[in-house]
Formats: sequence, structure tokens, C-alpha cells
Amino acid sequence: MVTTPRTVAVFGAGYIGLVTGACLAELGHRVTVRDVQPERIRLLNGGEVPIHEPGLGDLIAANKERLTFTLEAHTALKDAEIAYVCVDTPPTASGDADLSRVWSVIDTLKGAPHLAAVVVKSTVPVGTGERVRAALDEAGLAHVGYAANPEFTAEGKAVDDFLHPDRIVIGTSDARTDRLIRELHDGVDGPVQTLSVASAEMVKLAANALLATKITFINEIATVCEATGADVEQVATAIGMDHRLGPHFLQAGLGYGGSCFPKDSRALRAMASNSGYPFQLLNSVIEVNDLQPRRAIQRLKTELGGLKGRRVALLGMTFKAGTDDLREAPSAVVAARLLAENATVHCWDPMARPADVTPWNATTRHPSPADALCDADAALVVTEWPELREVDWASAGRTMRRRLLFDGRNTLDPDALVSAGFTYMSVGRATVRPAAP
Ligand code: UDX
Repeated sequence: MVTTPRTVAVFGAGYIGLVTGACLAELGHRVTVRDVQPERIRLLNGGEVPIHEPGLGDLIAANKERLTFTLEAHTALKDAEIAYVCVDTPPTASGDADLSRVWSVIDTLKGAPHLAAVVVKSTVPVGTGERVRAALDEAGLAHVGYAANPEFTAEGKAVDDFLHPDRIVIGTSDARTDRLIRELHDGVDGPVQTLSVASAEMVKLAANALLATKITFINEIATVCEATGADVEQVATAIGMDHRLGPHFLQAGLGYGGSCFPKDSRALRAMASNSGYPFQLLNSVIEVNDLQPRRAIQRLKTELGGLKGRRVALLGMTFKAGTDDLREAPSAVVAARLLAENATVHCWDPMARPADVTPWNATTRHPSPADALCDADAALVVTEWPELREVDWASAGRTMRRRLLFDGRNTLDPDALVSAGFTYMSVGRATVRPAAP
């Protein structure tokens, strides 16, 4: 427990706001989370968690005395000493981050009598803090400190990432605010770095762009492996043993998706372009990542001799395993491409929320992999769900029209699939086929 419990208003009850609010309450602070969506607040007040995030429901339940939810900004701000801005910053048509939700929070702060600091956790372009600072000064809130405190939490392990982070980054120019945010994190197990507001804003964008670049790099190596006979899995393992490079984010596949990497890499590119600098490396990363699922469909098309009229089992819809999130999932590109080639698409996913939108409304959803595989001409693994390793591939294969599997995440055992009679395609490795009878 912290030595000085604070009263905190958290704006935004999405992944970041809820995890921040629940974790700050767990540390001993009094937290009110405010969101503008009535349904979200209704669920939270009824004890339900509107998103899937391991450990979050338990944390909210365990801290319910210190954690409340409201639709009203003034309720959240009545006693608040610190206002945390955790609203989303979706891309605009120009690729810049849409800061309108951030600004509407800032507009409400005038009525907060005890406010000592405003902290922005939302991912924002460099320079936003300076503008917020000026807006606070203009609104008569010059006494209120400002800090950028970007988050580095990954979905599926966000609670653990918050409580045991690699680092806590505090961007502020004033010592009092720095002290306040440090004290707020008393009990969190991780090093703290204080830097300028602009640098803290850049850390978030740069870290995500570098991780996206690492994934894209291994996907490019995978393509060269396919052309030359090397095996990307063996290559990645050996590369990762070099402590200067590390083993993480070297999993070749259908490309990165999710709520952060695609959006943040485009936002960084837009930010650089706005200042007249063409960020060539990032351009290539984005382009290669866009191509990755399309390449997979092209390879499947060649293997099948065309996709028209083929029935494809699409296994996994979410952007990664362990989440229900479909945002920027490569599966949507895969499904849309298959439909554009006049294939029929039969999906399975254990967690994706029903999505009655394009392209999903033109596909059929099944309750199990076995159901989706029935009568299929090919299976395409898009998400590395552990359930797929439990499938009895020999019996599932007997229900298929053709035993062909494209493992878009290199998650299954090629030998087991080939023994079950499958032709096994994957990313960055040679296609393996059963021995001719
Ligand atoms: C990411 C960052 O990890 C986090 O620090 C930031 O705050 C938000 O964005 P998240 O989007 O939850 O978190 O997922 P992450 O586990 O990082 O994976 C992102 C995407 O990259 C997924 O689509 C995943 O499948 C893909 N990926 C990841 C790969 O293709 N290969 C890898 O080696 C790692």
C-alpha cells in the first residue's frame, strides 16, 4: 500500500483506463473512472467488466471500496487531486491522431477544486503536452502540474505490465509533479525515468515503431527464407540468442495488428511527414506489414490452383491470442481477400466478440475448429490460439475436402500435420507434404 493515498479521476474506461484505474486502486488510491458510454458504466456499476483482460475483473472486485465508475466528469473531479487522461486517440483521415477526446477532458478540468496534476496516458503526437500546458494556463489552471506518463502495456497481460513494468516514464518539467507521480506508483515494481514532456511523448511512439520494425524485419527475413530454403524459425531462435538483439518480437507471421502498432506507426509517420521528413524506414515497415496477409492468400491461391468456389476455414480472428480484440486484425484482410476471390469463409475463434460488420457478416462462424474445418478445401491459421494445438488433425482432416493447412503463425507442429496427411504451408519455411502413397 502507498504511504499517501491520493484521489484520482481516470478519464476513459477502455483497456488503458480500466487497467490504470484498477491498478491505482490496488495500490491504495481512491479512484473514480469516468467514461461517456452509458452502457460501459452501467456494466461496470453492475460488477461486470466490458472487456476481456486477464486479472482485471478480480482486481476491480477486490478494490471496489476504492474504485467507482461514473458518466459525470464533475463527479470524478469533485475530490480529485490527479486527473489521468486515458481516452483513445484514433487516426484521422490524414493519419494524424484525433485528439478531440483528449481536449474534451481538458475542457472539464476547470471545475476541479483540488486538482494538482493532469497526466496524459493516451498516445499523443509530440508537442501535445506543450499545447495542453498552454490551455491549462489559459483556463486559470497554471497551478496544476502537467505530465506525460505513457503506457507500455500489452493486451492480455496489461495488469501485470502495469504492476511490474520494465520502466515507468514520467515526462514533466516540474519537480512537484514528478514527485507526485512517483509517489502515486509506490509499490510498483520497476525503474522510473523522468524526462522532458516531448521526450516522453516520443518514447511511446518510438518504442512501438521499433517493435513493429522488429516484427517486420523477421517477416522480411521469412520471405527471403522461403525463396532460398532457409527456415525462419531456426534463424530467429539463433538471432535471439544474441543478447544485443534478444529473442522477443521475432515471431514471423501474418503481420502485426491490434490497437497500437498499426495506429501508432502511422501516427509517427504522419508526424514526421508533417514536419517535412519522409520516414522511409517506417514507410517500408507499414507497407510490408500491409502486404503480409495478402502474400499468404496469394500463396494459398497458387497451391489450390485458384480460390473461386473454395471453402476456407479461417482459424482465429483476433489480432493475437488471449484477447477478444479484433482491431486491425490481419484476419479481416485475410477474410476480405478470400471473399474478393469468391471463396467462402468459415471462421472459428474462441473469444472474438460477434462482429456483424464487413467482412465478418459475409462469413460463417462456427463453435469449434472441427466444425469450421468440415468440408473445407484449406485451413488458414491466423491467430496462434493454443486450442489449435489440441485439435485432432487426423480426424479433422478426414472431414475436409482437401488436407491443406496454411499456418500463418507458425504455431503448429509440421511433422504432426504431415503425419495426419496434411500439406503444411507456413511463413518463412518450405512447404512440407505427405509422402506419396
Ligand atoms: C503492443 C505493445 O506490446 C505495448 O507495449 C503497447 O502499449 C501497445 O501495443 P499489444 O497491441 O497488446 O501491445 O500486442 P503485442 O503482444 O505487442 O502484439 C502486437 C501484434 O504484433 C500482434 O498482432 C502480434 O500477433 C504481433 N506480433 C508480436 C508478431 O507478429 N510477432 C511477434 O514476434 C510479436
